[in-house]
Amino acid sequence: MMSEPFDILIVSEEDSITTQVLNAIDRDENNVTVIGSNDVSREINRQTRDFVIFIQANTDYVVEQVQYVKSIHSPTYIIFLATDSDIGLLRNIMRAGAEEFFILPDELSLFFSRFPTMQKNYKLRMETDKDNAVVFGRGRGQIHAFYSGKGGTGKTVISSTYAQTIKLESAAEVILIDLNVQFGGIETIMSLETNRSLIDLQPVINELNESHIRNVSQTEQHSKLEVLISPTDAGVAETIDGEFISRLLRACRRSFDFCIIDLPSFVNENTVTAIEEADKIYYVLQPDTPSLKVLKHFEEISERLGIDLKTSMQIILNNMSKEMELKEKDVKDLVRYPIAATVRRDYKKLQTFINKGDPIRKAQKEKLIPFSKDIRKFAKSVLS
Ligand SMILES: Nc1ncnc2c1ncn2[C@@H]1O[C@H](COP(=O)(O)OP(=O)(O)O)[C@@H](O)[C@H]1O
Ligand SMILES: [Mg+2]
Repeated sequence: MMSEPFDILIVSEEDSITTQVLNAIDRDENNVTVIGSNDVSREINRQTRDFVIFIQANTDYVVEQVQYVKSIHSPTYIIFLATDSDIGLLRNIMRAGAEEFFILPDELSLFFSRFPTMQKNYKLRMETDKDNAVVFGRGRGQIHAFYSGKGGTGKTVISSTYAQTIKLESAAEVILIDLNVQFGGIETIMSLETNRSLIDLQPVINELNESHIRNVSQTEQHSKLEVLISPTDAGVAETIDGEFISRLLRACRRSFDFCIIDLPSFVNENTVTAIEEADKIYYVLQPDTPSLKVLKHFEEISERLGIDLKTSMQIILNNMSKEMELKEKDVKDLVRYPIAATVRRDYKKLQTFINKGDPIRKAQKEKLIPFSKDIRKFAKSVLS
């Protein structure tokens, strides 16, 4: 099915950049008009546009022009291609309502690679705006960390399926980060073949930007989720410290709407840093007494380390089944954190995916196994 073409307006006085942009945009799927900066108000009044791409030329008026475009038709998606990196100007452009900026020449190819996603986001936004759904934007990224003091409780399957679900069910930009340094896990569950890992960001960690991250992350082919896997070489893995984790997560937060972290069970400097940076900690708990003891122990350690879990931690009850020792109500009475989700035990179907290395979610519309249905319910509640 042919979808409707996008209406794109390019505002530019810079011929060579304009030519490059025109060459990169698919002209069958887009109606493109190029104008000079003096014609903005006339063109905007003449016709509503899906995208306006400003190629920086006249810095005197461009902030007002961005504001004007937004005042005429607020859903218009504004992209600013900056020819200098004056941070004050960029801030004003974003305040005026632009969705994205890219600094040329370095980020031009990043813009080209991201443009299809922006178009998808725009389309989804137009559709979801009707139901008053969340609108995502740059710089407001949330960090959601999945943790449990016990191994084998489902952190890896739950965090990765949650990340796929959020990506498939929303317009958000999502990155999944495996912090199981030395041991990994995500690459197996998603069948990613790569020799790149987050350790490759080490040389640029002090100036980390979105292109660095996207150069090292892998795009999962079905959901288009970005995945940063952890190094498995013990020697290099040791060089990762709290400072590295903190810089990595802050850079990811600037570039993605959701940064989802799969944490190991042991508490070290890296785990503590990730927990402190996170907006939400989802503690994966099995409904039995030994698991509750481990949770208690984790609370004690956190208290000693001065980590405040009260506002950020929620429980994911996993492996729920009739045979389990405790019911949801029992857990509610025993723990002081809210229960964000309950996930059924789904041994047969889930294991088939895992044994085959088959990603658990692949498309927005597909038949869901019980495990995926429960994760979907959880993800939807976060998105709404
Ligand atoms: N809800 C569930 N139903 C059935 N099997 C599950 C469920 N949650 C996790 N598992 C299984 O438990 C095992 C451990 O899960 P994993 O995510 O690797 O745990 P962790 O990362 O906490 O060590 C995996 O084989 C996974 O398939
Ligand atoms: Mg794991």
